[in-house]
Amino acid sequence: MAAAEHEHRLGSILLDESPSVDTLLPPEEKPAQVRQAGDPPAHAQGGGLAAAGAESAIAGERVDVLAAQPAKQAMERQIELEVPQRHALHQPQPEAVAHGPILTPLIESTAMPFVTLEGIEGSGKSTQLRLLQESHGAALLLTQEPGGTPLGALIRETILDRRHATMTSTTELLLYFADRAQHVGETLRPALERGETVVSDRYVDSTLAYQGYGRGIPLDVIRSLAVIATGGLEPDLTVLLDLPVRLGLARVGRRGREDRLESEMGEFHERVCAGYHTLAQAEPERWLVLDATAAPAEIHRRIVEAGERRGLMPKLPHGLR
Ligand SMILES: Nc1ncnc2c1ncn2[C@@H]1O[C@H](COP(=O)(O)OP(=O)(O)OP(=O)(O)O)[C@@H](O)[C@H]1O
Ligand SMILES: [Mg+2]
Repeated sequence: MAAAEHEHRLGSILLDESPSVDTLLPPEEKPAQVRQAGDPPAHAQGGGLAAAGAESAIAGERVDVLAAQPAKQAMERQIELEVPQRHALHQPQPEAVAHGPILTPLIESTAMPFVTLEGIEGSGKSTQLRLLQESHGAALLLTQEPGGTPLGALIRETILDRRHATMTSTTELLLYFADRAQHVGETLRPALERGETVVSDRYVDSTLAYQGYGRGIPLDVIRSLAVIATGGLEPDLTVLLDLPVRLGLARVGRRGREDRLESEMGEFHERVCAGYHTLAQAEPERWLVLDATAAPAEIHRRIVEAGERRGLMPKLPHGLR
C-alpha cells in the first residue's frame, strides 16, 4: 500500500513528556536473537537451521526450533546460503581509541545485508521477527532496539520505567542512542563483519519518527547523533509496517500491555505515523511500505521476497518459506 500523504508538525521539545517506544516484552513475546554475537555464522557451522538450532540472546533463553525433527530430516532442510559480501570497515582513528574504543568505526561498504523493521506500536514488527525466525532460523541474526544487548536491556528498562516521569526528551534521546551505540558495537557491526544478514526490530528511523516527528527534536540533531552512535551504519532495506494509529493502539490494547508510550496521546502517535510516511517518501529506494492490515503470513512473504530480490537474505530451498 502506498504511504498516504499526511501533514506533520514539529512541536517544541517537550521536556516533561514521558519516553516512547516499546515496553519490556514478556519472555514469550521477546524476539529471539537467533545467534549470539560472536557465534560462527550459520554457513560456517555447515548445518544451517538444524545444526545451529536457534538461540535467544535477548532473554537468555534457548529456543531449539527444530529439536523435534529427526537428524536426517533436519539435514534435508539444510539451507543453501547465499550470504551477501562481507563489509569493509574503517578502523577507528588513533585519537578516537586513545582513551578506549569510544567511537564505532565508520562503515565503508554500502552493500550491507542489514534490514530494519519499523512502524508504530502494534504494527506487527515482533510478529514478523518471529515469522522470520521460523522460516530462516540461524540463517538470520534477529535483534531489536532498544534492548538488543545485555547493557541495552538495562537502558530499555530505564527508559520505560514509569517512575522516571521527570525524564526529559533530551535524556530519553541520549538513552536511545546509548542503547544503539552498544547495539551497533556489540551486535550489529560484528555480525556484518562476519557477513551475516541482520534484521533489527527498530533502528535510527524509530528515533527520527518518535523523538523527531513525535517530540519535535530537530531531525538534523538526531542524524548527527546517529553518525556518532552508529558510525554511519544504515540499513539496506527498511520495512514500514503501515497501520492506522487507532488499529495499532487497539491491537496493543487487546494484548493487555500498558507502558508509558502506549498511554500517550493519540496525537503524538499520529505525528509519529505521519513522520514514518515522510521518511519513507524521502528515500523510496530504501523503504518498503507494506499494508500492515494484511495477514501476517502475507506480510512475511513480501518481506522475504524483497530481501531476496535485493540479495540481502539467504535464499531458502523451495518449500521452506
Ligand atoms: N498482520 C496482522 N494482522 C492482525 N494482527 C496482527 C498482525 N500482526 C500482528 N498482529 C497482532 O497485533 C499485536 C501487536 O503485534 P506485534 O507485537 O508484532 O507489534 P509490534 O509492532 O511489535 O508492537 P510494539 O511496537 O508495541 O512492540 C499482536 O497481538 C499480534 O498478534
Ligand atoms: Mg514489538
